[in-house]
Amino acid sequence: MSVISVKDLSMDYGSGIIFKDVNLDIEKGESVFLIGNSGCGKSTLLRCMNGLAKPTSGEVYFSGQRVSPDNDDIDSIRCHMGMVYQHFNLFSHLNVLENIVLAPMMVLKRSKAEAISEAKKLLERVAMSGRENAMPSELSGGQKQRIAIARTLAMHPDVILFDEPTSALDPTMVEEVENVISSLCEEGMTCVIVTHDMSFARKSASRVIFMAENGIYEQGTPAAVLDNPKKLLTRRFLYHSRMFEALLDKENMDILTLNSQMKKFLSKFKYTQTQYEVISSICDEFLYPIMYNKKNDIDTIGVRLMCSESSTAHTILLSVPQAKSDPLEWPYTDPISLKLLDHYTNVILSKESNDTGYEIYIQM
Ligand SMILES: Nc1ncnc2c1ncn2[C@@H]1O[C@H](COP(=O)(O)OP(=O)(O)OP(=O)(O)O)[C@@H](O)[C@H]1O
Ligand SMILES: [Mg+2]
Repeated sequence: MSVISVKDLSMDYGSGIIFKDVNLDIEKGESVFLIGNSGCGKSTLLRCMNGLAKPTSGEVYFSGQRVSPDNDDIDSIRCHMGMVYQHFNLFSHLNVLENIVLAPMMVLKRSKAEAISEAKKLLERVAMSGRENAMPSELSGGQKQRIAIARTLAMHPDVILFDEPTSALDPTMVEEVENVISSLCEEGMTCVIVTHDMSFARKSASRVIFMAENGIYEQGTPAAVLDNPKKLLTRRFLYHSRMFEALLDKENMDILTLNSQMKKFLSKFKYTQTQYEVISSICDEFLYPIMYNKKNDIDTIGVRLMCSESSTAHTILLSVPQAKSDPLEWPYTDPISLKLLDHYTNVILSKESNDTGYEIYIQM
């Protein structure tokens, strides 16, 4: 029997169909990654799986039992289904240990000693030993998420549903959380994971499901779906998932935000610390001065960061449509700024001019 069985599931919140007639069986030990554009219904599907949302039609079964918010047994069913959210949802007034032992004591009726002893083992497992007494406010995002995972594991779930577990994290903390989840997948925990991070899916999925056009659009092994997608929308989605795009203009120019958005995007791929510095340099030494050049004649710059899935060879493309002369030269760019980039030996700068302006490629 499948751990989760979704039968002809349809959802419509009233403003249009989210998905229609979805059928999906998840077997014990599978790590199923759900990917797809924002709004395609990934979170809604997860919420239907554990009975937090009521579908318009169709059914979900968990180990053969019907899951529905109306089911009298829904609380006991949910005990077997862990859920980890983007925003951790720890109890802020309880310390780490109290957060973990609360449900096992209240719901599973474990003795305090038993619950504490197990919580300590779980803390070790998520690399948080010694932080029993810390309050959530004293922890980093990555640490909070690891505690949230330990708290979920303390209930001995048969399956864990993760809804973008790393997308609220500072880029430097993504890996520590992904490593914990990856090891759960390797140990055979049945997991359903929504993510926008393709390298995570490639590394840990047994099956990848791409959702589009109101349902499951393409699914298969990570190699099949992520490296050799058969269908058009999957290809398009993967192409865009490797590219970050922004348009700077004088009205709407927050270079600091752009800087952190680019780093956050890069962090989903293999990257080097130097590439973080290069991004900062480009923001401070090029984008800002080109925009506010002495002639004040450039109103927009297109910025694209194109990432490789397999290596740290990433490229930044700057499109400067109005530049009348080379944006890498005076009066747009100070020669000293170029010297600064020289200092990074792996950075190759090239440019092209055409009828509409200049394009600068920065391979890093
Ligand atoms: N409670 C709700 N009431 C009404 N509409 C909703 C509700 N929850 C979600 N929606 C709508 O349903 C659609 C699917 O939302 P959902 O959150 O499942 O998408 P998602 O794939 O998880 O997106 P993201 O990647 O942005 O998290 C969206 O258009 C959303 O606005
Ligand atoms: Mg979502």
